[in-house]
Amino acid sequence: MVETPYHGSGRKSLPKWEKRGVSQLRIRQSIFWFLLAAIALELASANVDTGSNKPGGRLAVPIPRNKAGCPDEPAEPDAGPAVRFAFGKNWTNFLSVVNEDRIAEATARLSEAMGDLQGKSFLDVGSGSGIHSLAALRLGASRVHSFDYDLQSVACTGEMKKRFAPGTNWSVEQGSVLDEDYVRSLGQFDIVYSWGVLHHTGNMWNALDLVSIPAIEKLMVAIYHDQGWKSRFWQFYKRAYNRRRRPAKWLMEVLVLCWAWGKPFVRRPRHTISRWRNYIRDRGMSPWYDAVDWAGGYPFEVAAPEKLVSFFIQRGFTLEHSEIRGGGNCNDFVFYRK
Ligand SMILES: C[S@@+](CC[C@H](N)C(=O)[O-])C[C@H]1O[C@@H](n2cnc3c(N)ncnc32)[C@H](O)[C@@H]1O
Repeated sequence: MVETPYHGSGRKSLPKWEKRGVSQLRIRQSIFWFLLAAIALELASANVDTGSNKPGGRLAVPIPRNKAGCPDEPAEPDAGPAVRFAFGKNWTNFLSVVNEDRIAEATARLSEAMGDLQGKSFLDVGSGSGIHSLAALRLGASRVHSFDYDLQSVACTGEMKKRFAPGTNWSVEQGSVLDEDYVRSLGQFDIVYSWGVLHHTGNMWNALDLVSIPAIEKLMVAIYHDQGWKSRFWQFYKRAYNRRRRPAKWLMEVLVLCWAWGKPFVRRPRHTISRWRNYIRDRGMSPWYDAVDWAGGYPFEVAAPEKLVSFFIQRGFTLEHSEIRGGGNCNDFVFYRK
């Protein structure tokens, strides 16, 4: 997952011509949101597919399990446990396009966010493809442990290790950040890193609490910005997506891609094409896989930055730095223990 148009960086002031037509723009935006809501409602009304996205392996990579075996499905207060996005499938696709350029970009981003990792132990919570664990090793981390709830994500991280860092001090296993016994059994790490994960657990505030346990020095979390009714809309859209079968899912993915890239493309086609081409610079993911990830990423919760910061201050952390992107983006927070 990366900084995308829907993970873009902040709002910019509108050009003059657009300021004049701002009310027109608002009307057009309202119509767009209305249409999107209508389509989502239509898609949500039938053809429910509840069982297709359970964790399961498509990769022929052995999946290491934690000592307790597979934890139970995390609690999802507003949805049945079967309504869950199969992140790992997307990571499996991502593996087919990962290369040294993408790894180098992800490594540069991690270095910007976390500083020097030389000799540090690094825990990657919800490792997904495993690209950030690999980046941590490339930045000199002495030990890396990665875990993810989704078995296919675990397999992807395992494959990433096999391809790009065999024989390194990097362990990969299946586990849930909501499983307190498991999290405690991991011991302590200099750096705990969890990018874009905890809002997808189904119990975000509990996950935020538990993820702080192993952190000795620094804790990095990236959580979706709370944008009020828009966040509620996306929650609904994502849940609808996960209850659909393939053709409807495909349509919903394309809608997200159009939403993210359509307007910039119509306005500045050449610029948008070059942005598309350079997209991997944003944490090493392709626009299409990000669109699928955005359409389906459920469970989905959000947090207001001030609420999240005071949550960690109460737990003995100090904010080192944050990147507040706002809108439909993830905000990044790096805390250190006092
Ligand atoms: C959007 S992906 C982010 C992956 C990776 N951190 C990155 O930055 O690319 C979210 C990941 O969180 C994982 N996840 C969801 N619930 C989890 C849980 N309870 N424990 C651990 N991982 C979880 C998903 O399986 C998925 O791989």
